[in-house]
Amino acid sequence: MTYQGVISRYREWLDVPDTLVPVTLLEGDTPLIPVPRLAEELGGGFELYVKFEGMNPTGSFKDRGMTVAISEALGRGVKAVMCASTGNTAASAAAYAARAGLRAMVLIPEGKVAAGKLAGAVAYGAEVLQIQGSFDDALSLVVELTGRYPIALVNSLNPYRLEGQKTAAFEICDTLGAAPDWLCLPVGNAGNISAYWMGFTQLDRRRGSGLPHILGVQAAGSAPLVLGHPVEHPETVATAIRIGKPARGEQALLAAEESGGRIIAVTDDQILGMQRRLAGNGIWVEPASAAGLAGLAHEIQAGRFQPQGKRIVAVCTGHGLKDPDIITRTFQPRVLPSDFHAIEEILSSLGGN
Ligand code: F0G
Repeated sequence: MTYQGVISRYREWLDVPDTLVPVTLLEGDTPLIPVPRLAEELGGGFELYVKFEGMNPTGSFKDRGMTVAISEALGRGVKAVMCASTGNTAASAAAYAARAGLRAMVLIPEGKVAAGKLAGAVAYGAEVLQIQGSFDDALSLVVELTGRYPIALVNSLNPYRLEGQKTAAFEICDTLGAAPDWLCLPVGNAGNISAYWMGFTQLDRRRGSGLPHILGVQAAGSAPLVLGHPVEHPETVATAIRIGKPARGEQALLAAEESGGRIIAVTDDQILGMQRRLAGNGIWVEPASAAGLAGLAHEIQAGRFQPQGKRIVAVCTGHGLKDPDIITRTFQPRVLPSDFHAIEEILSSLGGN
């Protein structure tokens, strides 16, 4: 059967109303890429895979949840949707709303949204409103507004977002034949870690597919779940997870605990270092997406985690193209005449022949 997106593929596993009108861009079915060289660099003796969610239609995992949230909203006759976003949710909501013929309004923190995300939201035709505040401020406003007006909230507080996002856990188990031993992923507003845990536990109950331990990773400057209290002014180069009051924080802590895993923090340098290492393996992800693996590397290095003999999946949540500036701002291209010998000279200085 041809692939028709996550709703069609996993409908019987999703807790959704019959009124739902499917709106899809054929999201999901993303690759689970083995990265043996990276595993070697981290000590070797274990299997390591990247679930590359940047391969979704708008370049992030949000599409899995958005197809369900928008389909449900359309099914109950809503005409407009709204979200707060650090960028990826905005682009995804905008695309699926456009597909459904609904209006989308997105509130983003001023000056902190990566270029590829902002451009996406604008290109798909959303009303983009920048607020002089953080993501957390934007989310409070959206919750209040959608409570007063007939506008659907499509942040991950919306349970249908999680219904869609849990399908990534199903795909991983389908591909590997069982749950991995560990799953590492970045944590921001904490919807995704909650959704994965829902997916793995549901599948294990029905099929005995096993349960992974979950390693959730925050950025050190935005690590409320590690610190145990909200962060008023979150900061990190990984703007996608620059969040100080995660809406699903309690659920995330419970998921990590029930799984026998934990939530930790890594520095911006560790995040950018892992982004480079992944790119060196042919996988370019946005900074936040490298946090899960950066956390794994950190735990191995600190001797708190023995990977040997294990099967580990790292979720890379968004594509590198989302945030090109982080790469290009340190890049000064060499300018040369369009001349054979000039290039040849460079080649020989590089030892290229
Ligand atoms: N990775 C990326 C690339 C993200 O965009 C986000 C969240 C996360 C990880 C964290 O996921 O919030 O479910 O814990 N981005 C949201 C947004 C907040 O607005 O796009 P989470």
